[in-house]
Amino acid sequence: MDSFFPGPDGLALPASPGLFKFLSIFTYTLHIIPMAFLIGLMIFAIFFYVKKSSNPEIFSSILQIIGNSLPLMLTFTLVSGALPLLFVQLLYGQAFYPAAILTGWMWYLVLAFILFSFFGVWLFKNKVISFPSVGIVTLALSLIALLVVNYVFTNVSVLMLSPEAIKTAYLNPSQSIVSFSDPQVAPRWIFFFVTSIALSGLLLNAFGHLSKKISEETREYLFQTGFWGYTIGSVLSIIVLIYWLFVLPDQTSSKIWSSHYFELFVTALVFAIVFLKVSNSIKEAGIFIMSPISAFFAVFIFGWIRHGVREQALEPVFIDTSAVDVQTDYGNLFLFFFLISAGIVYLVYLTRLYYRATHSQS
Ligand code: HEM
Repeated sequence: MDSFFPGPDGLALPASPGLFKFLSIFTYTLHIIPMAFLIGLMIFAIFFYVKKSSNPEIFSSILQIIGNSLPLMLTFTLVSGALPLLFVQLLYGQAFYPAAILTGWMWYLVLAFILFSFFGVWLFKNKVISFPSVGIVTLALSLIALLVVNYVFTNVSVLMLSPEAIKTAYLNPSQSIVSFSDPQVAPRWIFFFVTSIALSGLLLNAFGHLSKKISEETREYLFQTGFWGYTIGSVLSIIVLIYWLFVLPDQTSSKIWSSHYFELFVTALVFAIVFLKVSNSIKEAGIFIMSPISAFFAVFIFGWIRHGVREQALEPVFIDTSAVDVQTDYGNLFLFFFLISAGIVYLVYLTRLYYRATHSQS
C-alpha cells in the first residue's frame, strides 16, 4: 500500500464490498440517465428553436414540452447525484476526497453554475412562447454551464484514478489540477455529450408515444427526430467508447476487451434501435418500453466498464477493498433499500402531479 494514501479507515462495512460495488454502478446509472436527458433536451431545444420558422406550430408545442421537462430533469440529476456519492466515498474515499479537495475552487463554480442553470431552465420554461429569444439565450448559457459541470465531475473521476497526479498536485500547489492533459478526460466528457443526444432522442420518442394533447404531425416529427437522435448518438457513443478504451493503460484495456462488456454495450444499444423502429412504425407504446430498458442497460454496462477502469487503477496497490472488515448489518441495509424504494415511488408520484399541472396550464 502506498504510504501517501491512508489505509482502510477502521470502520467495518455493513456488507461485502462486492454489494457496494454493484450499488455504486447501479446508482451511477440512475444519476447519468437524468443528466443525459437534461443535457440532451437542451441541445435539442436549441436545434428546434433554429428550425422554428419552418413550422411554428409543431416546434412551439415541442419546445413547450421540453420546457416543462427541463426543471424536472435538473432536479432528478441533483437528487440522484447523492446516491453514487455514498458508495464512492465508502469504497474509494481515500482517493475521491483528495481529488475533490484539490479541485476545490471548481466546486464553488459548480454550485454557481447549477444555480444559474435552475434560473435558465425556469426562464426557458416560462418565456419560450412569449419571449423565445430570451428563453433560448439563457438556455444556451445554462447548457454551457452544465457542460462545465460535466467537465468538473469527469476531471475529479479521472484525477482520483491517479494517486501519482494527486501527490504531485498536493506537493506543488501552484501547479494546475485541471487535467486537460490526461488522455482519459476528453473521451469521457465527449461520451456524456453524445450519450445525452442518444438518450434524449429516446425521450422525444416517449413524448411522441405518451403525449395525448399533440397533433399527429407533431407526433410523427417526434418519432423521426427522436429515432435519428438516438441512432446517431448511439453510434457516436460506440466510437467514443472505443477511443476511451484505446487511451487506457494496455493492461486495463485488454482486461476490458476480454471481458466482453463492450460487445454487450453495443448489443444493448442496437436492440434499442430495433425496438424503436418497430414501435414507431406501428405506434405501439408497449413495444417502445423495450427501447429504454435496453438503452438503460447499455448505460449500466458503461458504468460497469468505468468501474473496472477504477478498480484496475486503484486496487489492490493503493486501496484494497478486500482488506476492509465486514460486519454484516442487514437492518441498516434493509432501511436503505426501503427508503430508496419509497423515495422513487414518491418521485414518480410528484412527477405525475407536475405533468398534470403543466398540462392543464398549457
Ligand atoms: C446538474 C448537476 C450535475 C451534473 C450535470 C452531473 C454530471 C455528472 C457526470 C457527467 C458524471 C460522470 C463523470 C465521469 O464518470 O467521468 C457524474 C458523476 C458523479 N456525480 Fe454528478 N452531476 C451533477 C450533480 C451532482 C450532484 C449534486 C452530486 C452530489 C450530491 C453528484 C455526484 C456525483 C458523483 C459522486 C459522481 C461520481 C460517481 C462515481 O464515481 O461512482 N453529481 N456527474
